[in-house]
Formats: sequence, structure tokens, C-alpha cells
Amino acid sequence: MSSTTSNPPGDTTSFGFRQVAEGMRQGLVNDVFSTVAGRYDLMNDLMSGGLHRLWKDDLVAWLAPPKSPRRFDLIDVAGGTGDITRRILEIGGQGCRAVLCDISPAMVEVGRRRLAEAHSSARVAFAIGNAETLPFPTKSFDAYTIAFGIRNVTHIDRALSEAYRVLKTGGRFLCLEFSACEVPLLDRLYDFHAFEIIPRLGALAAGSAEPYRYLVESIRKFPTQEPFADMIRAAGFGRVSYRNLTGGIAAIHSGWRL
Ligand SMILES: C[S@@+](CC[C@H](N)C(=O)[O-])C[C@H]1O[C@@H](n2cnc3c(N)ncnc32)[C@H](O)[C@@H]1O
Repeated sequence: MSSTTSNPPGDTTSFGFRQVAEGMRQGLVNDVFSTVAGRYDLMNDLMSGGLHRLWKDDLVAWLAPPKSPRRFDLIDVAGGTGDITRRILEIGGQGCRAVLCDISPAMVEVGRRRLAEAHSSARVAFAIGNAETLPFPTKSFDAYTIAFGIRNVTHIDRALSEAYRVLKTGGRFLCLEFSACEVPLLDRLYDFHAFEIIPRLGALAAGSAEPYRYLVESIRKFPTQEPFADMIRAAGFGRVSYRNLTGGIAAIHSGWRL
């Protein structure tokens, strides 16, 4: 798990189950996503048995973007191939505008293509940026979403502070992330799937097990529901709550800039 305080230069941090120099970690994460970008959507379906689609629908339903023509500005951080951005633009009214921001140019390129295919390009802008240092002014957005992205950043606390900074007063933070399965037996089944099946599927479908091993290991390193809720509170958010999905395999955390 990333620490909640910054580490001195030269420190190590976890990359999956490996310890690596802190300054190297983001580069390794970027290598993973530039390797998998072209097959990311297919692998998401294979890895989750399609469940990620339902979980993303849940996030969008909880956000409930306005259906009216009133202006509503979203930033979808670590937006990748655009699943969350596309859903929010589809469900929201004509006033919804989105910025899809991601650190990986390869993932953003796939996202750009997919949003063009969904005829949503007119209401979306694309930005290459790091969740820890977002290239946007303070109080710019009505909503901030991050789906399966925050466990990849080196300093989760910095990403949360940036989320708080770029949200307007009254703005909403929503994070969808893998979490801790709280249902006995389902947790064992899930572990088997995660550690035995997913890397093999990765090797078959994408030619390499390594990126998928990282993705699974990084899930284990991520804070569980309550500690993560505490980190969101520590960043300044109010009315923090969460919902478990599929027994806690994933969770959506919500907070408000009050
Ligand atoms: C698992 S994908 C999730 C993509 C998309 N949100 C979804 O749910 O399908 C994780 C994304 O996080 C991005 N990412 C990793 N580290 C990041 C960082 N520090 N800042 C912004 N994006 C980052 C990766 O490039 C990748 O596109």
C-alpha cells in the first residue's frame, strides 16, 4: 500500500508484490498500460467475466449526472479507454462535459477512438496528466471520477488532495476500485481466479502474463474499504461513504467537497 506521507528520495515502494525505487514505480505502471492498451477492453471482460460493466453502471447511477441542459463538468481521471466518460455522457443531459485525463498516451488514444465511435467526441476533451499533479485550476469540476485507477498511482494521498483541489465546492468525488471481498468462500474463489486464472488469460489473450500479475498484486496492496474511506476524509472530503459490489470484490467510495 502507498504510504499516506511522502517518502524521502531513494525510498522504495511496492509495485505489485515487488519493492522498487519509488521514482521508478510510475514508469513501470506506464509500461504495463502501454503494453495492454490495445487489448485492455477485451481483457477487462475476460478478467471480470463482464462484471466491470455492471460496476461502472453502478458508479454512474450513484453519480446521477443531471439530465437537464444545465452545465455539469466532469473530470474522469485515469480514464483510460473511456468507459466511465462514455457512460456519463450517455446518461447525462446535453450540459454534461467531460475531460478524460490519463497518464498513458496509448490508453488515451484508444479512449479517443472509442468516444468518437460513440459519437461523444463533441462533449469530451482529452488530457495527458498525472493524478498526483492534475493540470487544471482549482475548483474547476462538478464531479471527479476515478475507476480502477487510484491503486496505480504512487502517492494515493496526493491524488486524493488533487481530487479535492480541482472540485468546486459542492462537487462530488467517486472512486471505483477493487477492494476486500467480505464473503467467505467467494473470497477463496476470487483469489484462485485472480492469481491462477487471470495471469494465464493475460498470457493467452495478450501474449504476456506479467502485466496481469502486476494488476492482480496491486489489488492486494490497496487499502481495504474503511482505511481507504479514512484516507478520503483526510484529504478533506465530507459525507464519505462506500458501497460494496459483488461482496466487496470492488467498492465505490463517495465523498463531497463541502
Ligand atoms: C485499469 S486502467 C482503468 C481505465 C478506466 N478508468 C476503466 O475503468 O476502464 C488504469 C488507468 O490508470 C492510468 N494511470 C496509472 N497511473 C496514473 C496516474 N498516476 N495518473 C493518471 N492516470 C494513471 C493508466 O494509464 C490506465 O489507463
